[in-house]
Amino acid sequence: MTPSMTVDVHVTAEARRAALEADVRTGLSRHPKSLPPTWFYDDRGSELFDEITRLPEYYLTRAERSILDAHAADIAAASGADTLVELGSGTSEKTRLLLDAMSASGRLRTFVPFDVSEETLRRAAEDITGAYGIEVRAVVGDFHRHLSELPVDGHKMVAFLGSTIGNLAPGERRRFLDDLGATMTPEDHLLLGTDLVKDGGRLLAAYDDSAGVTAEFNRNVLSVLNHELGAHFQPEDFDHVALWDEEARWIEMRLRSRLPQIVEIEDLAMQVGFEAGEDLRTEISAKFTPEQVARELRGGGFTVDASWMDPARDFLLSLARPDP
Ligand SMILES: C[S@@+](CC[C@H](N)C(=O)[O-])C[C@H]1O[C@@H](n2cnc3c(N)ncnc32)[C@H](O)[C@@H]1O
Repeated sequence: MTPSMTVDVHVTAEARRAALEADVRTGLSRHPKSLPPTWFYDDRGSELFDEITRLPEYYLTRAERSILDAHAADIAAASGADTLVELGSGTSEKTRLLLDAMSASGRLRTFVPFDVSEETLRRAAEDITGAYGIEVRAVVGDFHRHLSELPVDGHKMVAFLGSTIGNLAPGERRRFLDDLGATMTPEDHLLLGTDLVKDGGRLLAAYDDSAGVTAEFNRNVLSVLNHELGAHFQPEDFDHVALWDEEARWIEMRLRSRLPQIVEIEDLAMQVGFEAGEDLRTEISAKFTPEQVARELRGGGFTVDASWMDPARDFLLSLARPDP
C-alpha cells in the first residue's frame, strides 16, 4: 500500500465558534456554572494534557500503556481488524503499540485518528504516516456530533483510550455508545479504556499534581474564552479545585473565583458575575468498576469479548463487539 494522508475537517472554524458560543452562553448562565471539557483542548491545552500524562501522580497513562505493552498483540489478534480508528486521539502516542501489533500481524492498512484539536491531530497524523507507511485518514470532528462521518469501509477496531469516556455524563455515555454502534458492523470491535475506582487520595492527587500542571490545564479554558470570545478573565483570580464525589464516583475539576467579580465576554455582549468562592465546573472524570463498564456497554448495544487490567488493577481495557 502507498502511504497517504488525508484530513477531513468537520469542525470548521465557524462551527467551532458557534458551538463554543452556545456552550458558554448556556454554561455560564446556569447555576452551578459549568463548561464541557472539550474547550480545554486548544493547542496549548493539548500540550498541557501531554505534560499531565507524564506526571508522577497521573498513573492513568502509565497503567494503560502497561496493558498495551503486555497485550497489544492479543488485542490485535482478537479484533482481526485492518483499520484502527482512534477517537479523542490527541498525540496517539500509546496507540503506536496497537499500530505496531497490527503491523506485525501483517494486517494494518488504515489509521483513522479523530479529534477536535486540529493542530495536534495533524502533527500526530503526519508522524504516523511517516513512521508506518500506511493510509492515514485523519478526521477533525466532535465525537458528540460527527461519529457518522467515520469511514465505513475496512474491518475496524475503534479505540477510545485514556478513560476519555469518563468525561461524559452517564446519559452522554449512553448516547455516545448508541451513535458509535450505528457506525460499526458486528465484525468490528470497540477497545475502551476506563479508569477504575480506587483510593480517593490517589485519585485526587492525579487531578491536583504538586507541580501545578493540572491547575494550568484547568485555567487554560479561561484563556481559550479570552482568545476566542474576547473575554476578560484573569485566570489567576481562579483557584484550581479537584473533588472526589464518592456517591457519583467521579472526580470534578472546578475553577473557584477568589473574589467577587464581573467578567465581560465582549463577543457575546455578556457579563458573568461570580461571588467569592463560587465554582465553575470544568470537567467530570468518572471512575468505573469492571462490572459497571460491562453493564454500560451492554446497555449501549455492545458485548465484551475480552478485557485486561494492569497488575495494580488501576485501569481496564475492554474489547467489545456491537450486537448484531
Ligand atoms: C483525556 S484526552 C486523551 C488523549 C489520548 N487519547 C490519551 O489517551 O492520552 C482527551 C482527548 O479527546 C479530545 N476531545 C475532547 N473532547 C472531544 C470531542 N467532543 N470530540 C473529539 N475529541 C475530543 C481532546 O482534544 C483530547 O485529545
